[in-house]
Amino acid sequence: MIQHKLSIMRDKNTGTKDFKILLKEISMLMGYEVTRDLPLEDYQIETPICPMTARRISGRKLAIVPILRAGLGMVDGLVSLVPVSKVGHIGLYRNETTHKPVVYYCKLPDDIQNRLVILTDPMLATGGSACDALDMLKERGCNNIRLMCLVAAPEGIEAVQRRHPDVDIYVAAVDDHLNDDAYIVPGLGDAGDRIFGTQ
Ligand code: PRP
Ligand code: URA
Repeated sequence: MIQHKLSIMRDKNTGTKDFKILLKEISMLMGYEVTRDLPLEDYQIETPICPMTARRISGRKLAIVPILRAGLGMVDGLVSLVPVSKVGHIGLYRNETTHKPVVYYCKLPDDIQNRLVILTDPMLATGGSACDALDMLKERGCNNIRLMCLVAAPEGIEAVQRRHPDVDIYVAAVDDHLNDDAYIVPGLGDAGDRIFGTQ
């Protein structure tokens, strides 16, 4: 399902409305993978028929942190899966000439260091934005972070693995390479522009 939906997103004829819906749906499906190994604990309940030992998530609660802007498109899908999640925001954009990330915003839950953090961004290109966002989270005490992206370039995966080997990366597709403008090939274009209709 993820591959099917991603193919529609990649198509340049897919408009903003469908792009956003598909990104939300894929995020929910990927959320299953990202949370599948969360520890469970037993607790007692009574069904209408009898008492039983049921299971629930134990331990750390979740924080979802999108990298603005495009990471926002992955939040709703994850929140519908885990409604009690807290949401932080990291604002970063790539300088168009140097392709280096520039920070412009950071607002995180007070207790973020006690939470499992899912950092979201649909595009992992050079990896610069993800690496800087991971630095910011670690500076604030986070030590249990997962990175969830839609499309990655091999260069971006390598950069994150080199600088943050403790962070597991979840991606729906690993594409071929980066072009001279550091866009992912074949990719899907500029994710932020396609989500928010800014181009
Ligand atoms: C895009 C994308 C990532 C970043 C990836 O954001 O959403 O954050 O580029 O590139 P990198 O791996 O080379 O750092 P962009 O800077 O275009 O900002 P936007 O989401 O506000 O459009
Ligand atoms: N950012 C995007 O939105 N797309 C790319 O291909 C690379 C960076």
